[in-house]
Amino acid sequence: MTASYGSSSPESAATGARRPRVFVTRRLPGDALDRLAQYAQVDLWLGDGPPSSKQLVEHAAHAAGIICLLTDRIDAAVLDPAPGLRVISNVAVGYDNIDVAAAAARGIAVGNTPGVLTETTADLTFGLMLAVARRIAEADRFVRDGHWQTWDPNLLLGYDVHGATLGIVGFGKIGQAVARRAHGFGMRVLYANSTQTPAPAAGCDLAPLDELLRASDFISIHVPLTPRTGLMIGDREFRLMKRSAVIVNTARGGVIDHEALLRALHEGRIAGAGLDVTAVEPLPPGDPLFDAPNVVLLPHIGSASYETRARMASMAVDNCIAGLQGLALPHPVPAAG
Ligand code: DGY
Repeated sequence: MTASYGSSSPESAATGARRPRVFVTRRLPGDALDRLAQYAQVDLWLGDGPPSSKQLVEHAAHAAGIICLLTDRIDAAVLDPAPGLRVISNVAVGYDNIDVAAAAARGIAVGNTPGVLTETTADLTFGLMLAVARRIAEADRFVRDGHWQTWDPNLLLGYDVHGATLGIVGFGKIGQAVARRAHGFGMRVLYANSTQTPAPAAGCDLAPLDELLRASDFISIHVPLTPRTGLMIGDREFRLMKRSAVIVNTARGGVIDHEALLRALHEGRIAGAGLDVTAVEPLPPGDPLFDAPNVVLLPHIGSASYETRARMASMAVDNCIAGLQGLALPHPVPAAG
């Protein structure tokens, strides 16, 4: 299931020195792996899906570096049998798949890809908001299924996005990029943030979370998944929302309690949800979310543009090469994890 990528020789053409081995857990867009192959012996996972935990452990055991994805759980079980591991480079800005403390305790550097996917993810967030509010996915199915008979003033009515109030939960780079788009739609923007934002955000009002939930027509989640944010939107929070509210999540599925979301949707306590991310990915066949009313489901494609994914791969390779060379990573995850 793996292949040696690039030069078949583990010797460096330039120095004759043995090159460090890097396990790359999936084919990556763009040509970043060609660059990596100049420095390293690349052990590339060729499966369509991620390697299993066992396969991850087996390949990591011989590696000096791992380039991994958010689908790869990297914890002590992977790190302990990998004494030569020096760097873990995640091709994502989120790194909840990595036990950063366990890596730090073993002197292993961890990097991610911040910044580069901000605008792309904000684009998708807006698309998802529009898709739910204006029932775009449902309307597409309606036409394809041959139900469209005539223009009808009552057909597929939805909610206006322009002029509505948007509540942004988590006002980091992506949250702020969503706010910029919202201003173009003439929206009022509220934001809740656990940490102080660097500067007051122009045209955006800081609000306590409960107040934001009560006042918003659209609620967009942009916090990372941490022990503090896990399941932070549950029954209590859904009860605070307007019946016409739409919630959109392009961050991490685990931030929303899905059972509570299902109850809120079925009981009409909110109007709809747009989920690019879910607590379990992919959703298993028969998951109740498939039958929930007014839900648009996407397969975690927030950063999925050709340009952005190629840049993410390139940043991940930069991190990896720096780690292999014993240098500070250009994009390290925050020390506290
Ligand atoms: C991330 O980077 O964390 C996204 O979820 C995938 O691009």
